[in-house]
Amino acid sequence: MYKLGAIIFLVGSIGSIPLKPESLHPDAGLNIIELVQKYGYPIESHQVQTEDGYLLTLHRIPRGLNSTLQATRPPVLLMHGLLSSSVDWVNMGPGTALGLLLADSGYDVWMGNQRGNTWSRKHETLDPDTDAEKFFNFSFHEIGYFDLPAKIDYILDTTGQEKLFYVGHSQGTTVFFVMASERPEYNEKIRLMSALAPIAYMGHLPNPLISQIAEHYDLMNTLVEIFHVHEFLPHYDVITELGETFCTNSSDYKDACYWILNIIAGFDWEVDPDFLPVIISNAPAGSCIKQLLHYFQEIKSFNFSQYDYGVEGNKARYGQETPPLYDTTKITAPVILHYASNDWLAALEDVDRLKSELPNLLGAKLVPFDRFNHLDFLWAKDVVQYLNNDVLDEIKSN
Ligand SMILES: *[C@@H]1O[C@H](CO)[C@@H](O)[C@H](O)[C@H]1NC(C)=O
Ligand SMILES: *[C@@H]1O[C@H](CO)[C@@H](O)[C@H](O)[C@H]1NC(C)=O
Ligand SMILES: *[C@@H]1O[C@H](CO)[C@@H](O)[C@H](O)[C@H]1NC(C)=O
Ligand SMILES: *[C@@H]1O[C@H](CO)[C@@H](O)[C@H](O)[C@H]1NC(C)=O
Repeated sequence: MYKLGAIIFLVGSIGSIPLKPESLHPDAGLNIIELVQKYGYPIESHQVQTEDGYLLTLHRIPRGLNSTLQATRPPVLLMHGLLSSSVDWVNMGPGTALGLLLADSGYDVWMGNQRGNTWSRKHETLDPDTDAEKFFNFSFHEIGYFDLPAKIDYILDTTGQEKLFYVGHSQGTTVFFVMASERPEYNEKIRLMSALAPIAYMGHLPNPLISQIAEHYDLMNTLVEIFHVHEFLPHYDVITELGETFCTNSSDYKDACYWILNIIAGFDWEVDPDFLPVIISNAPAGSCIKQLLHYFQEIKSFNFSQYDYGVEGNKARYGQETPPLYDTTKITAPVILHYASNDWLAALEDVDRLKSELPNLLGAKLVPFDRFNHLDFLWAKDVVQYLNNDVLDEIKSN
């Protein structure tokens, strides 16, 4: 009798766990194509091949809601951050998301996807699953050196334009700085680069958790080699399911979910809790371990430099014991930096150093809100007021 009671109680409790809470945001579960179509905008997918064989997807919104295709529409390339994808630029919806605001303001909007993420997990000869060791053998260096030039050339060819605007968030800025310093001829093709939460130097990283992990770089590196881990957090539907279950308003675990994102980006952010399931419907979108290791190296070295393969590896690859520094003085494209005082991944000291080195800096703007954090650049409730209006204005006036 006692046991039966317990079983009934258990079954009853399981039945009452809200697996798909009714308060779920209506955009949860939609990918970029579905989202953009739902909002009534046209969207195209384009495939671009890099010199080293990766097949990348560019998403394009050729025009806004009320505009025609005929008018000349200057192209803009938007590039997402680590573990993310093209959807970052649209999922806040019309009137808020930068990608849609740009389309409605007369621009031809192209959104990149880094090699290895949900949309660019393809290669001419390598299979990302069976050849993972070779396929996921890149860091932000290769994304800057190979992916960006391939995308820029493709966009300029397709649109017949000579230059484009570039907006990057986080790693989307790092890869730009890599390209502009390693392949300086591409500076000519940039009308303006708007850097949101810029990351080049990382020595002053304010994030206590990530600094701790970086301290144990050698251990991490060894573990990765022993266990042959190459890919990092690819998109699994189960993560989305868990997120939808645990990160919504009605979940008892909402605070834990929020906390995880806070500890990465900086506390006290401005994202509406209702919006979390929309974010995690597409993120994490996958990257590779070597990207993380490269950033950890930067945290420890205070340098903005190529990948450190150790003394012997560096001698073999670069002909010197330490990895070559990226020459920031070669970044001659016009750049405007947007940074924030509560950004736990882009410290003010590190941004200041970058600021002092860039030869063609048109502006460095501290977001006028002291709680703004690394992810608020994409998803703050008031991102239009604090950031996007400003970015639109600077693009229009250049
Ligand atoms: C979720 O919670 C926030 C703040 O606690 C509240 O403002 C909002 O109305 C809630 N949304 C739903 C759908 O219950
Ligand atoms: C498009 O046109 C409709 C009807 O005139 C208007 O209500 C809406 O605000 C316009 N949208 C944009 C993004 O301009
Ligand atoms: C990964 O890339 C490095 C540097 O290009 C190279 O030395 C190494 O052999 C590559 N490893 C694999 C498994 O392809
Ligand atoms: C940082 O760069 C300087 C200058 O090239 C070099 O001497 C130093 O060893 C580098 N630090 C590391 C940890 O690689």
